[in-house]
Amino acid sequence: MIQSLRGMNDMFSPDAERYEYFIETATTIAKRYGFSFFEAPILEETALFKRSVGESSDIVGKEMYQFIDKGENDVCLRPEGTAGVVRAFIQKKLDKQGGIHRLFYHGPMFRYERPQKGRLRQFHQFGIESFGVASVVEDATLIMLLVDILNALGIGYKLEINSLGDQHCMPDYRNKLVSFLDEHESEICEDCKRRKATNPIRVLDCKNSSCQSLYANAPKLMQNLCEGCESDFEQLKALLDDNNIDYEINTHLVRGLDYYSKTAFEFVSDEIGAQSAIAGGGRYDRLVEFLDGRETPAVGFAMGIERLLELIKMPESAREGYYIGTMDDEGLPIIMKAAQAKRKSDKVTVEYKSKNFKNHLKGADKVNARYCAIVGENERNDKTIWIKDLLNKTEETIAIDNF
Ligand code: HAM
Repeated sequence: MIQSLRGMNDMFSPDAERYEYFIETATTIAKRYGFSFFEAPILEETALFKRSVGESSDIVGKEMYQFIDKGENDVCLRPEGTAGVVRAFIQKKLDKQGGIHRLFYHGPMFRYERPQKGRLRQFHQFGIESFGVASVVEDATLIMLLVDILNALGIGYKLEINSLGDQHCMPDYRNKLVSFLDEHESEICEDCKRRKATNPIRVLDCKNSSCQSLYANAPKLMQNLCEGCESDFEQLKALLDDNNIDYEINTHLVRGLDYYSKTAFEFVSDEIGAQSAIAGGGRYDRLVEFLDGRETPAVGFAMGIERLLELIKMPESAREGYYIGTMDDEGLPIIMKAAQAKRKSDKVTVEYKSKNFKNHLKGADKVNARYCAIVGENERNDKTIWIKDLLNKTEETIAIDNF
Protein backbone atom coordinates (compact mmCIF):
# COMPACT_ATOMS: atom_id res chain seq x y z
CA MET A 1 0.00 0.00 0.00
CA ILE A 2 1.34 3.43 -0.90
CA GLN A 3 1.62 5.79 2.06
CA SER A 4 2.03 9.56 2.19
CA LEU A 5 5.64 10.76 2.54
CA ARG A 6 7.13 11.25 6.00
CA GLY A 7 6.24 14.67 7.41
CA MET A 8 3.53 15.22 4.81
CA ASN A 9 0.04 14.85 6.19
CA ASP A 10 -3.43 14.48 4.75
CA MET A 11 -6.02 16.73 6.30
CA PHE A 12 -9.49 15.38 7.06
CA SER A 13 -12.30 16.73 9.20
CA PRO A 14 -12.17 18.06 11.93
CA ASP A 15 -8.69 19.51 11.13
CA ALA A 16 -9.84 20.43 7.63
CA GLU A 17 -12.76 22.40 9.10
CA ARG A 18 -10.41 24.17 11.51
CA TYR A 19 -8.09 24.95 8.61
CA GLU A 20 -10.95 26.45 6.58
CA TYR A 21 -12.14 28.45 9.57
CA PHE A 22 -8.61 29.74 10.16
CA ILE A 23 -8.25 30.91 6.53
CA GLU A 24 -11.68 32.56 6.62
CA THR A 25 -10.94 34.40 9.86
CA ALA A 26 -7.40 35.48 8.92
CA THR A 27 -8.58 36.61 5.46
CA THR A 28 -11.38 38.74 6.90
CA ILE A 29 -9.01 40.43 9.33
CA ALA A 30 -6.21 40.95 6.76
CA LYS A 31 -8.74 42.64 4.45
CA ARG A 32 -9.86 44.93 7.26
CA TYR A 33 -6.27 46.14 7.43
CA GLY A 34 -6.21 46.80 3.67
CA PHE A 35 -4.33 43.68 2.51
CA SER A 36 -5.20 41.98 -0.80
CA PHE A 37 -4.90 38.31 -1.69
CA PHE A 38 -1.79 37.26 -3.58
CA GLU A 39 -0.67 33.92 -5.00
CA ALA A 40 2.80 32.91 -6.23
CA PRO A 41 4.07 29.61 -7.68
CA ILE A 42 5.21 26.89 -5.29
CA LEU A 43 8.24 26.10 -7.44
CA GLU A 44 10.91 28.80 -7.87
CA GLU A 45 14.51 29.05 -8.98
CA THR A 46 16.79 27.83 -6.21
CA ALA A 47 18.88 31.01 -6.52
CA LEU A 48 15.94 33.05 -5.21
CA PHE A 49 16.09 31.38 -1.79
CA LYS A 50 19.87 31.27 -1.68
CA ARG A 51 20.00 35.02 -2.14
CA SER A 52 17.14 35.93 0.22
CA VAL A 53 16.76 33.39 3.00
CA GLY A 54 20.56 33.06 2.89
CA GLU A 55 23.14 30.35 2.24
CA SER A 56 24.13 30.23 5.91
CA SER A 57 20.58 29.50 7.12
CA ASP A 58 19.51 25.94 7.98
CA ILE A 59 16.62 26.31 5.56
CA VAL A 60 18.87 26.80 2.52
CA GLY A 61 21.84 24.85 3.85
CA LYS A 62 20.03 21.64 4.80
CA GLU A 63 16.31 21.72 4.23
CA MET A 64 15.49 22.53 0.63
CA TYR A 65 13.54 20.26 -1.70
CA GLN A 66 15.85 21.09 -4.56
CA PHE A 67 16.18 19.36 -7.94
CA ILE A 68 17.09 19.87 -11.58
CA ASP A 69 13.97 19.88 -13.74
CA LYS A 70 13.62 18.43 -17.25
CA GLY A 71 14.84 21.71 -18.75
CA GLU A 72 18.04 21.61 -16.62
CA ASN A 73 16.79 24.41 -14.34
CA ASP A 74 17.91 24.34 -10.71
CA VAL A 75 14.57 24.69 -8.89
CA CYS A 76 13.12 24.07 -5.45
CA LEU A 77 9.81 23.86 -3.62
CA ARG A 78 9.39 27.09 -1.67
CA PRO A 79 10.52 26.73 1.96
CA GLU A 80 8.77 30.01 2.85
CA GLY A 81 6.64 32.69 1.20
CA THR A 82 8.44 36.03 1.47
CA ALA A 83 11.10 35.45 -1.21
CA GLY A 84 8.46 34.59 -3.85
CA VAL A 85 6.37 37.64 -2.99
CA VAL A 86 9.42 39.90 -3.27
CA ARG A 87 10.41 38.30 -6.59
CA ALA A 88 6.88 38.88 -7.93
CA PHE A 89 6.81 42.45 -6.56
CA ILE A 90 9.97 43.30 -8.48
CA GLN A 91 8.95 41.35 -11.59
CA LYS A 92 5.69 43.34 -11.76
CA LYS A 93 7.73 46.55 -11.33
CA LEU A 94 5.80 47.60 -8.24
CA ASP A 95 9.13 48.77 -6.77
CA LYS A 96 9.50 51.27 -9.66
CA GLN A 97 5.86 52.30 -9.32
CA GLY A 98 6.32 53.19 -5.66
CA GLY A 99 3.48 53.64 -3.16
CA ILE A 100 2.27 51.15 -0.59
CA HIS A 101 1.46 47.54 -1.46
CA ARG A 102 -0.07 45.22 1.11
CA LEU A 103 -0.44 41.53 0.26
CA PHE A 104 -1.50 38.34 2.03
CA TYR A 105 -1.13 34.72 0.93
CA HIS A 106 -1.50 31.20 2.21
CA GLY A 107 -0.44 27.77 1.07
CA PRO A 108 2.03 24.92 1.47
CA MET A 109 5.73 25.40 2.27
CA PHE A 110 8.37 22.64 2.20
CA ARG A 111 11.34 22.07 4.49
CA TYR A 112 13.25 18.80 4.73
CA GLU A 113 13.40 18.82 8.53
CA ARG A 114 13.29 15.93 10.98
CA PRO A 115 9.54 15.46 11.48
CA GLN A 116 8.11 15.59 14.99
CA LYS A 117 5.00 17.03 16.63
CA GLY A 118 4.44 20.49 15.12
CA ARG A 119 7.31 20.07 12.67
CA LEU A 120 6.36 18.89 9.21
CA ARG A 121 8.06 18.67 5.84
CA GLN A 122 5.00 20.07 4.13
CA PHE A 123 3.22 22.65 6.25
CA HIS A 124 1.01 25.65 5.60
CA GLN A 125 1.57 29.30 6.29
CA PHE A 126 -0.66 32.34 6.28
CA GLY A 127 1.58 35.29 5.44
CA ILE A 128 1.39 39.06 5.22
CA GLU A 129 3.86 41.34 3.40
CA SER A 130 3.74 45.13 3.37
CA PHE A 131 5.90 47.15 0.97
CA GLY A 132 6.60 50.89 0.93
CA VAL A 133 6.28 51.98 4.57
CA ALA A 134 9.58 52.74 6.28
CA SER A 135 7.96 53.82 9.55
CA VAL A 136 7.88 51.40 12.46
CA VAL A 137 4.18 52.28 12.79
CA GLU A 138 3.59 49.63 10.10
CA ASP A 139 5.50 47.04 12.19
CA ALA A 140 3.18 47.79 15.11
CA THR A 141 0.13 47.59 12.83
CA LEU A 142 1.20 44.15 11.59
CA ILE A 143 1.64 42.92 15.15
CA MET A 144 -1.84 44.25 15.97
CA LEU A 145 -3.24 42.44 12.93
CA LEU A 146 -1.65 39.19 14.08
CA VAL A 147 -2.98 39.69 17.61
CA ASP A 148 -6.47 40.31 16.16
CA ILE A 149 -6.30 36.97 14.31
CA LEU A 150 -5.15 35.08 17.40
CA ASN A 151 -7.80 36.76 19.58
CA ALA A 152 -10.55 35.99 17.06
CA LEU A 153 -9.54 32.32 17.21
CA GLY A 154 -9.27 32.27 21.01
CA ILE A 155 -5.54 31.43 20.91
CA GLY A 156 -3.30 32.48 23.80
CA TYR A 157 0.25 33.60 23.00
CA LYS A 158 3.45 35.21 24.21
CA LEU A 159 5.01 37.87 21.99
CA GLU A 160 8.78 38.32 21.86
CA ILE A 161 10.39 41.26 20.11
CA ASN A 162 13.91 42.35 19.28
CA SER A 163 15.74 44.76 17.02
CA LEU A 164 18.40 43.36 14.70
CA GLY A 165 19.82 46.79 13.86
CA ASP A 166 20.52 47.98 10.33
CA GLN A 167 23.47 48.51 8.00
CA HIS A 168 24.75 51.30 10.28
CA CYS A 169 24.91 49.45 13.57
CA MET A 170 24.89 45.75 12.66
CA PRO A 171 28.47 45.55 11.24
CA ASP A 172 29.96 47.07 14.42
CA TYR A 173 27.94 44.77 16.60
CA ARG A 174 28.93 41.76 14.48
CA ASN A 175 32.61 42.63 14.97
CA LYS A 176 32.14 42.86 18.74
CA LEU A 177 30.37 39.52 18.77
CA VAL A 178 33.06 37.86 16.66
CA SER A 179 35.78 39.16 19.05
CA PHE A 180 33.80 37.68 21.94
CA LEU A 181 33.51 34.35 20.07
CA ASP A 182 37.25 34.41 19.29
CA GLU A 183 38.02 34.83 22.98
CA HIS A 184 35.80 31.83 23.79
CA GLU A 185 36.63 29.71 20.73
CA SER A 186 37.37 26.61 22.82
CA GLU A 187 34.02 26.79 24.64
CA ILE A 188 31.63 27.06 21.71
CA CYS A 189 30.07 24.15 19.83
CA GLU A 190 31.04 23.08 16.29
CA ASP A 191 27.86 24.61 14.84
CA CYS A 192 28.67 27.97 16.42
CA LYS A 193 32.22 27.81 15.05
CA ARG A 194 30.67 27.45 11.61
CA ARG A 195 28.14 30.22 12.28
CA LYS A 196 30.95 32.53 13.42
CA ALA A 197 32.34 32.35 9.89
CA THR A 198 29.05 32.53 7.96
CA ASN A 199 26.52 34.57 9.98
CA PRO A 200 27.76 35.20 13.54
CA ILE A 201 24.52 36.55 15.06
CA ARG A 202 22.90 33.16 14.46
CA VAL A 203 25.00 31.82 17.37
CA LEU A 204 22.62 33.65 19.71
CA ASP A 205 19.83 31.16 19.14
CA CYS A 206 22.05 28.08 19.43
CA LYS A 207 20.11 25.34 21.25
CA ASN A 208 23.24 24.00 23.01
CA SER A 209 22.90 24.76 26.74
CA SER A 210 26.59 25.48 27.40
CA CYS A 211 26.63 27.92 24.46
CA GLN A 212 23.47 29.50 25.83
CA SER A 213 25.00 30.16 29.25
CA LEU A 214 28.13 31.56 27.61
CA TYR A 215 26.13 33.93 25.40
CA ALA A 216 24.30 35.35 28.40
CA ASN A 217 27.49 37.42 28.79
CA ALA A 218 27.97 38.17 25.10
CA PRO A 219 27.61 41.77 23.87
CA LYS A 220 23.93 42.63 23.44
CA LEU A 221 22.61 43.90 20.15
CA MET A 222 20.09 46.00 22.04
CA GLN A 223 22.92 47.99 23.65
CA ASN A 224 24.64 48.56 20.32
CA LEU A 225 21.82 49.98 18.21
CA CYS A 226 22.38 53.22 16.30
CA GLU A 227 20.18 56.21 17.08
CA GLY A 228 17.66 55.48 14.31
CA CYS A 229 17.19 51.82 15.24
CA GLU A 230 16.97 52.65 18.91
CA SER A 231 14.29 55.32 18.50
CA ASP A 232 12.32 53.03 16.17
CA PHE A 233 12.44 50.30 18.77
CA GLU A 234 11.31 52.73 21.48
CA GLN A 235 8.42 53.83 19.28
CA LEU A 236 7.43 50.21 18.61
CA LYS A 237 7.33 49.47 22.33
CA ALA A 238 5.28 52.64 22.99
CA LEU A 239 2.76 51.71 20.28
CA LEU A 240 2.38 48.19 21.65
CA ASP A 241 1.96 49.59 25.18
CA ASP A 242 -0.68 52.06 23.96
CA ASN A 243 -2.61 49.22 22.39
CA ASN A 244 -2.37 46.93 25.41
CA ILE A 245 -0.26 44.33 23.66
CA ASP A 246 2.02 42.51 26.09
CA TYR A 247 5.51 41.62 24.90
CA GLU A 248 8.87 40.53 26.14
CA ILE A 249 12.19 41.70 24.78
CA ASN A 250 14.32 38.75 23.77
CA THR A 251 17.78 39.98 22.80
CA HIS A 252 18.62 36.49 21.49
CA LEU A 253 15.74 36.44 19.01
CA VAL A 254 17.55 36.47 15.65
CA ARG A 255 15.14 34.48 13.41
CA GLY A 256 16.23 31.67 11.10
CA LEU A 257 16.24 33.68 7.87
CA ASP A 258 18.94 36.14 6.85
CA TYR A 259 16.88 38.95 5.33
CA TYR A 260 15.79 40.75 8.50
CA SER A 261 16.86 44.12 9.81
CA LYS A 262 15.47 46.24 12.66
CA THR A 263 12.23 44.75 14.06
CA ALA A 264 12.08 40.97 14.55
CA PHE A 265 9.27 39.25 16.41
CA GLU A 266 7.93 35.84 17.25
CA PHE A 267 4.67 34.60 18.76
CA VAL A 268 4.98 31.47 20.87
CA SER A 269 2.48 29.20 22.60
CA ASP A 270 3.20 27.15 25.69
CA GLU A 271 0.39 24.71 24.87
CA ILE A 272 1.81 22.84 21.86
CA GLY A 273 5.10 21.30 22.97
CA ALA A 274 8.65 21.91 21.83
CA GLN A 275 7.82 23.46 18.45
CA SER A 276 6.27 26.47 20.13
CA ALA A 277 6.68 29.23 17.52
CA ILE A 278 3.25 29.88 16.02
CA ALA A 279 4.19 32.95 13.97
CA GLY A 280 7.25 34.99 13.15
CA GLY A 281 8.26 37.98 11.14
CA GLY A 282 9.98 41.30 10.98
CA ARG A 283 11.32 44.08 8.80
CA TYR A 284 13.41 43.37 5.69
CA ASP A 285 14.23 46.80 4.24
CA ARG A 286 17.17 45.56 2.15
CA LEU A 287 15.68 42.50 0.49
CA VAL A 288 13.98 44.15 -2.51
CA GLU A 289 17.25 45.85 -3.43
CA PHE A 290 19.18 42.68 -2.78
CA LEU A 291 17.03 40.86 -5.35
CA ASP A 292 17.79 43.62 -7.90
CA GLY A 293 14.73 45.80 -7.26
CA ARG A 294 14.59 49.45 -6.30
CA GLU A 295 15.20 49.99 -2.57
CA THR A 296 11.82 49.51 -0.84
CA PRO A 297 11.16 49.23 2.89
CA ALA A 298 9.14 46.14 3.81
CA VAL A 299 7.84 44.22 6.78
CA GLY A 300 5.85 41.00 7.14
CA PHE A 301 5.10 37.84 9.06
CA ALA A 302 3.90 34.28 8.60
CA MET A 303 1.81 32.04 10.83
CA GLY A 304 2.29 28.26 10.90
CA ILE A 305 -1.24 26.97 10.42
CA GLU A 306 -0.71 23.34 11.57
CA ARG A 307 0.68 24.54 14.90
CA LEU A 308 -2.45 26.64 15.42
CA LEU A 309 -5.06 24.03 14.52
CA GLU A 310 -5.36 22.35 17.90
CA LEU A 311 -5.49 25.73 19.65
CA ILE A 312 -8.39 27.15 17.64
CA LYS A 313 -11.64 27.52 19.55
CA MET A 314 -14.31 26.76 16.97
CA PRO A 315 -17.67 28.51 17.21
CA GLU A 316 -20.53 26.12 18.04
CA SER A 317 -21.89 24.95 14.74
CA ALA A 318 -25.50 26.01 14.34
CA ARG A 319 -28.12 23.81 12.69
CA GLU A 320 -28.10 24.57 9.01
CA GLY A 321 -30.10 23.79 5.86
CA TYR A 322 -32.38 20.91 4.96
CA TYR A 323 -32.42 17.15 5.23
CA ILE A 324 -34.87 15.68 2.73
CA GLY A 325 -36.09 12.08 2.75
CA THR A 326 -38.78 9.79 1.39
CA MET A 327 -40.68 6.96 3.02
CA ASP A 328 -41.00 4.87 -0.15
CA ASP A 329 -39.15 4.51 -3.45
CA GLU A 330 -41.88 6.27 -5.44
CA GLY A 331 -41.09 9.46 -3.53
CA LEU A 332 -37.43 9.56 -4.63
CA PRO A 333 -37.92 11.54 -7.90
CA ILE A 334 -40.05 14.05 -5.97
CA ILE A 335 -37.45 14.71 -3.28
CA MET A 336 -34.63 14.84 -5.88
CA LYS A 337 -36.49 17.65 -7.65
CA ALA A 338 -37.33 19.45 -4.42
CA ALA A 339 -33.70 19.22 -3.26
CA GLN A 340 -32.37 20.57 -6.54
CA ALA A 341 -34.59 23.67 -6.25
CA LYS A 342 -33.68 24.22 -2.60
CA ARG A 343 -29.93 24.01 -3.28
CA LYS A 344 -30.10 27.34 -5.12
CA SER A 345 -30.11 28.96 -1.68
CA ASP A 346 -29.53 26.37 1.04
CA LYS A 347 -27.40 23.46 2.07
CA VAL A 348 -29.33 20.23 1.37
CA THR A 349 -28.69 16.62 2.36
CA VAL A 350 -30.77 14.09 0.44
CA GLU A 351 -31.29 10.61 1.90
CA TYR A 352 -31.72 8.29 -1.09
CA LYS A 353 -32.84 5.31 0.96
CA SER A 354 -36.50 5.02 1.91
CA LYS A 355 -36.86 5.08 5.70
CA ASN A 356 -39.52 5.42 8.32
CA PHE A 357 -40.27 8.72 9.92
CA LYS A 358 -38.24 8.19 13.09
CA ASN A 359 -35.09 7.17 11.20
CA HIS A 360 -35.31 10.22 8.95
CA LEU A 361 -35.49 12.49 11.99
CA LYS A 362 -32.41 10.74 13.39
CA GLY A 363 -30.63 11.27 10.03
CA ALA A 364 -31.48 14.99 10.03
CA ASP A 365 -30.10 15.29 13.52
CA LYS A 366 -26.90 13.52 12.54
CA VAL A 367 -26.10 16.02 9.76
CA ASN A 368 -27.12 18.91 12.03
CA ALA A 369 -29.83 20.12 9.65
CA ARG A 370 -32.20 22.88 10.68
CA TYR A 371 -35.17 21.35 8.83
CA CYS A 372 -36.23 17.77 8.20
CA ALA A 373 -38.51 17.46 5.15
CA ILE A 374 -40.21 14.16 4.35
CA VAL A 375 -42.45 12.87 1.57
CA GLY A 376 -44.57 9.82 2.45
CA GLU A 377 -47.48 8.17 0.64
CA ASN A 378 -50.04 10.79 1.80
CA GLU A 379 -47.79 13.71 0.82
CA ARG A 380 -47.18 12.12 -2.55
CA ASN A 381 -50.91 11.79 -3.21
CA ASP A 382 -51.63 15.34 -1.98
CA LYS A 383 -48.56 16.87 -3.73
CA THR A 384 -47.32 18.17 -0.35
CA ILE A 385 -44.22 17.83 1.84
CA TRP A 386 -43.98 17.58 5.62
CA ILE A 387 -41.38 19.84 7.29
CA LYS A 388 -40.13 19.94 10.84
CA ASP A 389 -38.06 22.87 12.16
CA LEU A 390 -35.61 21.06 14.43
CA LEU A 391 -34.59 24.24 16.20
CA ASN A 392 -38.00 25.66 17.07
CA LYS A 393 -39.68 22.23 17.19
CA THR A 394 -42.55 23.34 14.95
CA GLU A 395 -43.92 21.36 12.01
CA GLU A 396 -46.16 21.93 9.01
CA THR A 397 -47.27 20.35 5.74
CA ILE A 398 -47.10 22.58 2.67
CA ALA A 399 -47.72 22.24 -1.07
CA ILE A 400 -44.58 20.81 -2.68
CA ASP A 401 -44.70 23.64 -5.24
CA ASN A 402 -44.23 26.13 -2.38
CA PHE A 403 -41.31 24.29 -0.82
P1 HAM B 1 9.44 31.28 9.80
O1 HAM B 1 9.64 31.72 11.22
O2 HAM B 1 10.48 30.47 9.18
O3 HAM B 1 9.23 32.63 8.98
O4 HAM B 1 8.06 30.53 9.68
C1 HAM B 1 6.85 31.08 10.17
C2 HAM B 1 6.06 30.04 10.93
O5 HAM B 1 5.87 28.88 10.13
C3 HAM B 1 6.75 29.51 12.18
O6 HAM B 1 6.55 30.39 13.28
C4 HAM B 1 6.03 28.19 12.38
O7 HAM B 1 4.80 28.39 13.05
C5 HAM B 1 5.75 27.73 10.97
N1 HAM B 1 6.71 26.67 10.58
C6 HAM B 1 7.98 26.82 10.18
N2 HAM B 1 8.55 25.63 9.90
C7 HAM B 1 7.60 24.70 10.13
C8 HAM B 1 7.57 23.26 10.02
N3 HAM B 1 8.61 22.56 9.59
N4 HAM B 1 6.41 22.62 10.34
C9 HAM B 1 5.33 23.32 10.76
N5 HAM B 1 5.31 24.67 10.88
C10 HAM B 1 6.43 25.35 10.57
C11 HAM B 1 9.02 32.69 7.63
O8 HAM B 1 8.78 31.74 6.96
C12 HAM B 1 9.05 34.09 7.09
N6 HAM B 1 8.79 34.03 5.65
C13 HAM B 1 8.04 34.98 7.80
C14 HAM B 1 8.02 36.37 7.27
C15 HAM B 1 7.14 36.90 6.37
N7 HAM B 1 8.90 37.32 7.55
C16 HAM B 1 8.59 38.42 6.86
N8 HAM B 1 7.54 38.17 6.14
